[in-house]
Amino acid sequence: MRWTKSALKARISDIIGNRQLIIATNREPYIHIYKEGKVEYMRPVGGAVTALDPVMRVCNGTWVAHGSGAADKEVVNKKDEIRVPPEDPQYTLKRIWLTKEEENGYYYGYSNKGLWPLCHMAYTRPEFEEIDWAYYKIVNQKFADTILNLAKHKKTFVWIHDYHLTLLGKMLKEKNKKILTANFFHIPWPNPEAFRICPQRKEILEGLLANDLLGFHIRYHCANFMETVKLDLEARIDNEKTAVVYGGHETLIRAFPISVDFDEISKIAESGETKKTVRHIKEQFSISPETFVMIGLDRIDYTKGIIEKIQAVDRFFEKFPEYKEKVVFIQKGGLSRIHIGAYKDLNEEINNLVENVNWKHSTKKWFPVIFVRKHMARKEIVALHKMANACLVSPVHDGMNLVCKEYVAAKNDLDGTLILSQFTGAARELEGAIFVNPYDREGFADAIKEAVILPKEERMRRMKNLRKTVKENNIYKWAGTFLEELKKI
Ligand code: F6P
Repeated sequence: MRWTKSALKARISDIIGNRQLIIATNREPYIHIYKEGKVEYMRPVGGAVTALDPVMRVCNGTWVAHGSGAADKEVVNKKDEIRVPPEDPQYTLKRIWLTKEEENGYYYGYSNKGLWPLCHMAYTRPEFEEIDWAYYKIVNQKFADTILNLAKHKKTFVWIHDYHLTLLGKMLKEKNKKILTANFFHIPWPNPEAFRICPQRKEILEGLLANDLLGFHIRYHCANFMETVKLDLEARIDNEKTAVVYGGHETLIRAFPISVDFDEISKIAESGETKKTVRHIKEQFSISPETFVMIGLDRIDYTKGIIEKIQAVDRFFEKFPEYKEKVVFIQKGGLSRIHIGAYKDLNEEINNLVENVNWKHSTKKWFPVIFVRKHMARKEIVALHKMANACLVSPVHDGMNLVCKEYVAAKNDLDGTLILSQFTGAARELEGAIFVNPYDREGFADAIKEAVILPKEERMRRMKNLRKTVKENNIYKWAGTFLEELKKI
């Protein structure tokens, strides 16, 4: 059976039974903002929300998340809830409000100055401040109190996501043993030696091991997690079952490679409106029909290898100047976590680098790098994918990476090449990509050349294979297999 939206819809009540489904993430799927005095909404770009929104549209549960938009309070009801997607409501979003201090300590501090660099090992030193940890616990408790309230009179399954909420499973179980809980960890789990430096590692591991099911993208992260537990806790590791028993409670550890809504993206890519948007973008950037277009789409984050990618583009034009005016690289970069020093510095570094590379290679009528900062609507992103001859995905470390899968889903015409970092979870699935080590500038520049000269037949053969993989292993399969695993508990 191929998992599709309708297949998940047909099976969901059998899988969840009479339990209500609550999911908990830090980031909300829809953010309400003020624009020119009016309330509007936007969809954030992070992997977790991109993947979970289509699933929630099918499962119709409650999504609990931090209400971070300036206009968020204006649109909710008395229970702080709003039905979403706003244009076609299908599930409930329940917003949790955080004070500036809480957001600073829990989100910017412990989650993103501590756990994020710790788990990605991207040579950015993690910082663990006691005050941030205190706020991290307060906010996890805030989520727990809200969810316990919702679960008072109903059998409930709580699906927790990511590194922001590692303590939530334990907090829920301590107050209500009947709640089933699972956590899906969207970022890599590092090796035990790396995790060892975390002063709060015992509490974090205990928080995660209170869940009934714990998911990672790939088996390698599951193995790292089990090794970490072995090193730090008196727990029984059941390798046969891939489970951990701690304090008499068993947690199943499983790999579920996350994905995208292949059918939906394909459909958008085929639409007449997308073709129009492609024309519009090409006009806007003065791109001629013969130009070979390469794209990159990332949150501006040091794990995404944006610097490495632009340096590789620079090296490509140094080594192969005959491609000047024939190849262009469009990088869309959304600002992220800007109150953190490392992100501010990175942003500045990117600005300088783009300016230098453009100054160095530009001609009277051409720039090699077009850096787009503005927020793009979904249809514009699909259009960018559709028009791109190559997509450059170059994280120095990434749990999965969905940009590469979105690119593949949008290439109905099969005419495109994926250049993919070997340090992404996706690299384990996406055979047919040209693989690069983003730290190897020379090799990366050669890979770009390879993509530019790849014969059409070979390009199409590769893309066909990639599409087959992503079509089969789509987001509904990820959600369906995760939830079915839970049914066994
Ligand atoms: O892939 C999921 C993810 O990387 C999360 O781990 C992360 O929280 C999110 O995307 C994007 O970051 P933020 O929510 O901080 O904008």
